[in-house]
Amino acid sequence: MEELQQILDQALTQFSAINDENQLEQAKAKYLGKEGSLTALLKGLGKLSADERPKAGASINQVKQSIEAALQQRRDALGHAKMATKLSAESLDVTLPGRGNGCGGLHPVTRTLSRIEHLFHSLGFSTTSGPEIEHDFYNFTALNIPKNHPARAMHDTFYIDPEHVLRTHTSPVQVHYMQTHQPPLKIISAGRVYRVDSDATHSPMFHQVEGLWVDEEVSFANLKGVVQDFLQRFFEQDDLKVRFRPSFFPFTEPSAEMDMSWRGGWLEIGGCGMVHPAVLKHVNIDSEKYLGFAFGLGVERLAMLRYGVNDLRQFYESDLRFLKQFN
Ligand code: FA5
Repeated sequence: MEELQQILDQALTQFSAINDENQLEQAKAKYLGKEGSLTALLKGLGKLSADERPKAGASINQVKQSIEAALQQRRDALGHAKMATKLSAESLDVTLPGRGNGCGGLHPVTRTLSRIEHLFHSLGFSTTSGPEIEHDFYNFTALNIPKNHPARAMHDTFYIDPEHVLRTHTSPVQVHYMQTHQPPLKIISAGRVYRVDSDATHSPMFHQVEGLWVDEEVSFANLKGVVQDFLQRFFEQDDLKVRFRPSFFPFTEPSAEMDMSWRGGWLEIGGCGMVHPAVLKHVNIDSEKYLGFAFGLGVERLAMLRYGVNDLRQFYESDLRFLKQFN
């Protein structure tokens, strides 16, 4: 009995001094393992007389239970201490400001389109739209570009079938609008157009804004005034350099191309001119009474100039590092 008490005391003292879970399990083996001191006592029961055996057995079991209880208690204590250390190391301060949620933004071309529309609205133009899949008639014939006209080769066209194309410019919207409205007309129309074209300043899909003003007294001077005024406001530069270069479009006469100063040279931003009488005739507008001007601007070109982008294709590569700069 004395030896039992000693084993129990020793076990309790040893367990309470241990601060490591592995060491605790090793200490357990010393008492309850195969070679443990309590196990040895149990094995020795056989040597006792039949009278002594039950009492001694009961005492050994009691001590065994006490040791197991002390062991479990220490295990729990060590487990709690470990958890407490872990929790304090991983503490979460819910009052700290957030890391910032990624917030989407408008694509630079969309921003440019809204800006263009807003400025033209303030100049008295209203907005209209047209289909992206066009009948050959609207994209070409009604714009004074009949079949086999060499000007068709100026547009590298995506054909859907011999009769239908992905529109190569926004000018067919002029025809749709004039078929259903009588002068005075003052509209713009922005949208996607398509050409077989790709380099730093050309992309197979791009945007144009078409402008059309038809009335009894509209002149080329008005055209220059409107375009110049728009560009100066768009770029917020009163001394902006814009160049009108004589050019040719079958649907305008006279025609010009508009360039803006860019990196020491010029970048073409659009075409324009006085609406050709043949176009007015196609839509039954009296070309003796009415005349008008039209222009078509490249939206990506304007966005490139405004944001200092060198390669137009970057707008369509969906690279978030590029796009995030416009948020
Ligand atoms: C036209 O498309 C005429 N419809 C413009 C017009 C309208 C003239 C009304 C007269 C009256 P052009 O092919 O030059 O013209 O294109 C107009 C502008 O679109 C160009 O100046 C350029 O800024 C832009 N552009 C042309 N091709 C591309 C392309 N592949 N990628 C990006 N922008 C382009």
